[in-house]
Amino acid sequence: MSRTIIISNRLPTKVQRAADGLHFQPSEGGLATGLGSIYRADGNVWVGWPGLFVEDPAEQAQVTARLADDSMAPVFLTEAEIRDYYEGFSNGTLWPTFHYFSEFATYVPAHWEAYRAVNEKFCQAVLALAGPEDTIWVHDYQLLLLPELLRRARPNATIGFFLHIPFPSYELVRVLPWGPELLRGMLGADLIGFHTFGYMHHFLSAVAHLLGLPTQNGQVETPERTILVDAFPMGIDYERYAQAAVSEAAQGYERTYREVLGEARVILSIDRLDYTKGIAQRLHALEGLLVAHPEWVGQVSLLMVVVPSRDQVAQYAALKEEIDELVGRINAQYRTITWNPINYFYRSFPFEELVAFYHLADVALVTPVRDGMNLVAKEFIASKGDRPGVLILSDRAGAAQELSDALLINPTHTDQLVGALHQALTMPADEQCQRLRHLQELVRQYDVFAWTKLFMDRLAYSKIKQQTLA
Ligand code: UDP
Ligand code: G6P
Repeated sequence: MSRTIIISNRLPTKVQRAADGLHFQPSEGGLATGLGSIYRADGNVWVGWPGLFVEDPAEQAQVTARLADDSMAPVFLTEAEIRDYYEGFSNGTLWPTFHYFSEFATYVPAHWEAYRAVNEKFCQAVLALAGPEDTIWVHDYQLLLLPELLRRARPNATIGFFLHIPFPSYELVRVLPWGPELLRGMLGADLIGFHTFGYMHHFLSAVAHLLGLPTQNGQVETPERTILVDAFPMGIDYERYAQAAVSEAAQGYERTYREVLGEARVILSIDRLDYTKGIAQRLHALEGLLVAHPEWVGQVSLLMVVVPSRDQVAQYAALKEEIDELVGRINAQYRTITWNPINYFYRSFPFEELVAFYHLADVALVTPVRDGMNLVAKEFIASKGDRPGVLILSDRAGAAQELSDALLINPTHTDQLVGALHQALTMPADEQCQRLRHLQELVRQYDVFAWTKLFMDRLAYSKIKQQTLA
């Protein structure tokens, strides 16, 4: 039977070292949480890095055995690979460039070399696992070279690629010293998927400008093959959130939080620590709300979860300091003995507690300055059940293309954000429900299972098309 081999840099389980040994926890980030619901079907295997430097062969064997029970196969990275491939090229060059933060990007040849070598390492791991009939599905910016490497080794393999972050305007790709190589790497796939048509068009334009290949009707013609390119907005496992929100466990958490928060209305903010997420802008907007509408002082609290992420990369460490400083200043200025404007957590939360936050919140404030999709917005919608609630969403998140019943804002326009916050907090309950029910219909229908099926059907079609053209 043919299986799907899923490959991403990060596995959906991360290994952590503690005094009493290794611990296995769910990973954060949209790729891992989103695909976590679908990958186990039909004997599929997920290949990726377990998130920790593991050198000792006995420990590697322990990790491999434990992950195998859960249909995962680890690729172990050395400390130098983590530094140069993961923190260096992936998160110091590609991530900022693709999110329009070119000023943060570094161009270090040694990082590029490590990126190539680690993509090759992943290639060997996949070849060791995948049979000739298996479908190969490569994910995200850390592995842009992998489709072509696999294609060279297996010219007839079925290979899909999906990018979970924005694909930027060709002007940005042009700045990258290794732009053409990266594009050629992606073109090893039979089908290349993006979250939005905008990203897809940017990709086609980069291929036309930088590689001079014909790109008509959502496909790229190379001398060897026709490659299909399409938009597939990623969904979530809707029912998992909807059901968890009314579970005993989540309701128990919610009651506890409610007691502590008292009567205050709750604005919720959940992200990994990342300069693309607009976290500082959000804090400025909350302060702006308290200044422009002092009637909210004592009446509204921001519940802000920031999940530690990539803290060895300089900009992430600097952002952490900026957020700590802002939260400290705003809380010190506005708090009373019984009320805090911001309840700030710098850590991750287990699933049921997150869902309790979503269910409890009056407003979800999702303000990335750039975001491939943003699954937090969709998780909030799915968790609300028949409750009212308002989603404030940046127009620069991929999710904004679908979620037009949210209050869409420009995240750098503080006054607009303040206005949206006030509007959300004063919106009549029936308007909240009406908007939310529309959003729920959409997110329920285009869930992660529908997304996977669309991608896989299109991938199968790409092979049929190639055969009929051959
Ligand atoms: N998340 C999590 N634990 C937390 C906070 C967040 O697992 O404590 C998850 C959240 O549920 C969501 C993901 O992290 O599925 C973030 O995905 P999103 O697409 O919003 O952004 P990304 O981190 O991928 O840029
Ligand atoms: C985003 C990326 C993923 C990545 C996740 C978490 O969702 O698209 O590829 O796994 O962030 O980041 P990390 O660097 O911790 O894997």
